[in-house]
Amino acid sequence: MRRSELRKLLPPGPRTPAPVQLLATWTRPAASIELLRRKYGTRITVQLPFQMPFVILSDPADIKAVFTAPPDVLHPGEGARVLEPLIGRKSVILLDESPHLEQRKLLLPAFHGEKMQRLVGLMSELTRGEVDSWPLERPFALHPALQRLTLEIILRAVFGLEQGARLDNLRDLLTRVLAISESPLSVLPETQRFTRLFGSMRRFEHVREQADTLIRDLIEERRSESEARDDVLAMLLQARHEDGSPMAYQELRDELMTALVAGHETTASQLAWGFEQLARQAPVALRLAQEIDAGEGDEYLTATIHEILRRKPVLPNAEPRVVKRPVEIGGFTYPAGVALLASSFLVHHDPAIYPDPYAFRPERFLGNAPGTYTWIPFGGGRRRCLGASFALQEMKIVIGQVLGRYELAPSSDRPERTARRSITYSPSRGATVILRERRSTQSPVAPARVPVPA
Ligand code: HEM
Repeated sequence: MRRSELRKLLPPGPRTPAPVQLLATWTRPAASIELLRRKYGTRITVQLPFQMPFVILSDPADIKAVFTAPPDVLHPGEGARVLEPLIGRKSVILLDESPHLEQRKLLLPAFHGEKMQRLVGLMSELTRGEVDSWPLERPFALHPALQRLTLEIILRAVFGLEQGARLDNLRDLLTRVLAISESPLSVLPETQRFTRLFGSMRRFEHVREQADTLIRDLIEERRSESEARDDVLAMLLQARHEDGSPMAYQELRDELMTALVAGHETTASQLAWGFEQLARQAPVALRLAQEIDAGEGDEYLTATIHEILRRKPVLPNAEPRVVKRPVEIGGFTYPAGVALLASSFLVHHDPAIYPDPYAFRPERFLGNAPGTYTWIPFGGGRRRCLGASFALQEMKIVIGQVLGRYELAPSSDRPERTARRSITYSPSRGATVILRERRSTQSPVAPARVPVPA
């Protein structure tokens, strides 16, 4: 179908040249999407260079239709193909239909909330080690420190690595692999071909192969070991396909890399936004500190985390779903090839759903569970984030420990803008705050208790 005919079938959208749109979405991501919503409403067609058009949806009824569409109608796996060089073709994120369902079934038990409880001790210990080293009374960028922490948590709690040379080497190699993938060029499949020509793709492949060798050794060693462990790799080694066979090396390697890519920068940026917001919200921080000191439940902490994920979703949309068979949603029939994006950023800032949407107000979620199609920081349906319990638990532990110990103040009156790093939105100045040793909200100073998530 010709592009002009295709456009007639789709909702309206900007007519500015595609490279200009790409530049706007890269340099001013939040502002440019808000501008589009004001102009075009809850369905916006966007055309970027070298790609089929995609449609950004933010009406909860459309989002529900996208999340519940049959697996042969919409393909999220295809929409995430750009991640393949990093996470490998067996990754659950890249699969569709029955291969996806089968792989997801294998992984689900490893990420179950109950299994996550066993990781509380390890996550708390690693957090304490990191948080203890933070400087006081001067501007300090939290984002790099949180990246260090979330990487360590994934390497220890998912890969099951112990302190030593292998952990150090893998940390170094994986940091380099992730740094290369942060480049804007890495998120467009077509530019990956050019980066190959210029050699950066080859450098990336070289470092990735070195990391793969270490991961292969780790998996082989763990396969022959009988010791019971609580990490995610231990669960994956026990998982069995329907025919009784264990997961193959490539599957295990790709799912470990998937957890790293999907769970490291996302959680670090989400926590960074959380602290950037909390530093400007003294009453919220005080109420949280009081709850932590009282040590009776974590209702307000939970509501605060829901509000952080609403106000600053680090992934502005769920995985793009590529239409495989024409589908009617909200009065439009989308043809094959178009991608549909459920926008968390837009639905989270819809004033009809969240009054005064730009205000940071955890009270919205006190006694109110977030809505399945109106609060979607983890996407939804059969593709909902597998690491949601892992991430929520980690956020509770980190925020609980930091606010149990420190008072936060902003380093500048200007709120931080949204900057894009690869696929995530993060605070433009790295969540720079000033930390001070906290006075107790009650007396005497109570040691911070780490709330365990429900
Ligand atoms: C705050 C942190 C996180 C956020 C905001 C987040 C968000 C998301 C989103 C939006 C999706 C796409 C869902 C969809 O398209 O419907 C996703 C998928 C996924 N996430 Fe997360 N995630 C986070 C942390 C994690 C962690 C810690 C892990 C693993 C340790 C993880 C593993 C995954 C996996 C495996 C998928 C693919 C699920 C599938 O395709 O079936 N995520 N995540």
